[in-house]
Amino acid sequence: MEQQESKQVIFSGIQPSGNLTLGNYLGALKNWVKLQDEYDCYFCIVDLHAITVKQEPKNLRRRTLELLSIYIAAGIDPDRNTLFIQSHVPAHSELGWLLNCNTYMGELGRMTQYKDKSQRYGNHISAGLFNYPVLMAADILLYQADLVPVGVDQKQHLEITRDIAERFNNAYSPTFKIPDPYIPEAGAKIMDLQDPSKKMSKSSDNPNSYILIMDPPEVIRKKISRTVTDSIGIVKYSDDQPGIKNLMTILNVITGKSFEKIEKDYEGQGYAQFKNDVAEAIVSELEPIQKKVNDLISDKTYLENIYKTGAEKANYIANKTLRKVQKKIGFIPR
Ligand code: TYM
Repeated sequence: MEQQESKQVIFSGIQPSGNLTLGNYLGALKNWVKLQDEYDCYFCIVDLHAITVKQEPKNLRRRTLELLSIYIAAGIDPDRNTLFIQSHVPAHSELGWLLNCNTYMGELGRMTQYKDKSQRYGNHISAGLFNYPVLMAADILLYQADLVPVGVDQKQHLEITRDIAERFNNAYSPTFKIPDPYIPEAGAKIMDLQDPSKKMSKSSDNPNSYILIMDPPEVIRKKISRTVTDSIGIVKYSDDQPGIKNLMTILNVITGKSFEKIEKDYEGQGYAQFKNDVAEAIVSELEPIQKKVNDLISDKTYLENIYKTGAEKANYIANKTLRKVQKKIGFIPR
């Protein structure tokens, strides 16, 4: 127990807002699995973030439990880590509000993810989407996290989290640990298979542009064979060949094979065999996970047990930080 308390803390989360992609898996989940021995980890299903855009209630329910199953199937051990659902810990919403009152409209308006989404949804965006990064800051700061393992697209949200924490610490007194992003060297930005200048995203309109964690093997093979590449015809890790570079990254992260070795293996061979091998690597990585997800998802009692135990621990830690913050702000203790 003592040893556990001296471990550094990790917090991360994924939205249950759509089907998870290979980008989510390689940029976040696979990386989390490697960290669970060394750190005290909190892995959250961020349903409060998911409702910043409209969600069908029954789909949200299904996806929340599916995401928990995916966490476990990917190798996150529920006995060693705290797995929980964000809305089960009211301190996230409460601290979110308190931090909102310590955050400027201007800094939120500069967030690129907000700018992208507001462009896509026009006038129909919620105030929640604007305030999204503040809730994310609350998630992280409640647990006094040292590290936050995420993909590159979340880097700006980590920067604002640090700014908010520093501002609060300076205005009152040291309260929050200042967290660092933990971004993997490879796989932190898996690109769209049809347009490798964009990141792979579950919200793309074209299903051929992403691989889903739950895509059946034959779908994965078809999507990889249709990946947009180039007419150069040489397997090379180069910015001039973004499609090939992306497939090489995927192969590297899954198999551990270096880029030099991949280049050598496919010398003089064109793209067909290479694409085929990338597809097989993805299939052999995802197929066992899919089988486990399908078993877990039907065991509602097991899942309930995990998210309830997780929420209990998370509530305890989160409330400690929240009470401190409330006191410093000047609220009367209950
Ligand atoms: P979300 O749900 O969009 O994505 C979950 C994680 O997947 C990573 N990711 C990618 N990595 C590599 N390549 C890609 N194409 C790719 N697409 C997504 C994301 O960087 C992320 O790590 N705001 C967060 C959820 C969140 C959170 C938090 C994360 C809420 N509170 C606190 C960390 C800590 C998000 O929308 O992730």
